[in-house]
Amino acid sequence: TLSPAEAGKFAAAMASVAEIEDGMTVGLGTGSTAAWMVRALARRAREDGLRLTCVPTSDRTAGLARALGLTVVGLDEVDRIDVTIDGADEFDGHLRLIKGGGAAHLREKLVAAASDRMIVITDPSKDVETLGAFPLPIEVIPMGWKGTEARIRAVLETAEVDGRDTALRMAEGKPVITDEGNYVIDAHLGRIGDPEGLAAALADIPGVVEHGLFIGLCDTVIIGHPDGRHETRM
Ligand code: A5P
Repeated sequence: TLSPAEAGKFAAAMASVAEIEDGMTVGLGTGSTAAWMVRALARRAREDGLRLTCVPTSDRTAGLARALGLTVVGLDEVDRIDVTIDGADEFDGHLRLIKGGGAAHLREKLVAAASDRMIVITDPSKDVETLGAFPLPIEVIPMGWKGTEARIRAVLETAEVDGRDTALRMAEGKPVITDEGNYVIDAHLGRIGDPEGLAAALADIPGVVEHGLFIGLCDTVIIGHPDGRHETRM
């Protein structure tokens, strides 16, 4: 049996794959919620005989999708993507997102930007009034990362945020390396008063490859509840 959070993720994942039709090209997100979706999608494709082309947002998701028999291609092998289904770490009332808790936000943003539609699937815990309680992931080039972190801190000095601590993401004593070979700096902001302004300022910093603010990309959020119900925000 599933924990309440996992049951909610499962309900959202099931509702999202119901929107997929034969012949579609589908972007596959990363994370535990997206993993439920990949399993549900593979089962739907098998049972309903859907021919799908899938573009994964991480090596992890690519491996899972292939193992389940889905057809996996790279982003440059398709002209367009009908819909991408992904999780998120936070979303607000304007469907602005924080992503990158799984260090996959660079590929996730590239795939979402190439998609006609982005559906975010989530349990109720990611629904926030104001973004920022979840540390904002910022992917940086390894070369000169200390200088890049200093430039990020300088931007945060004048940003509408409550906290300004930054930290290189580590695992087992070593920097976390993303699928694209970069580092991640997490910014502990507490509250992001002006997501658009911060997104633009961060994108302008030499050494920053991509940040985890997704603005104007998500079209629909499906929130799954532990009892199996789901609600849709658009
Ligand atoms: C991956 O980098 C993130 O953007 C994920 O979408 C996010 O961490 C959600 O993961 P869960 O579904 O496991 O909460």
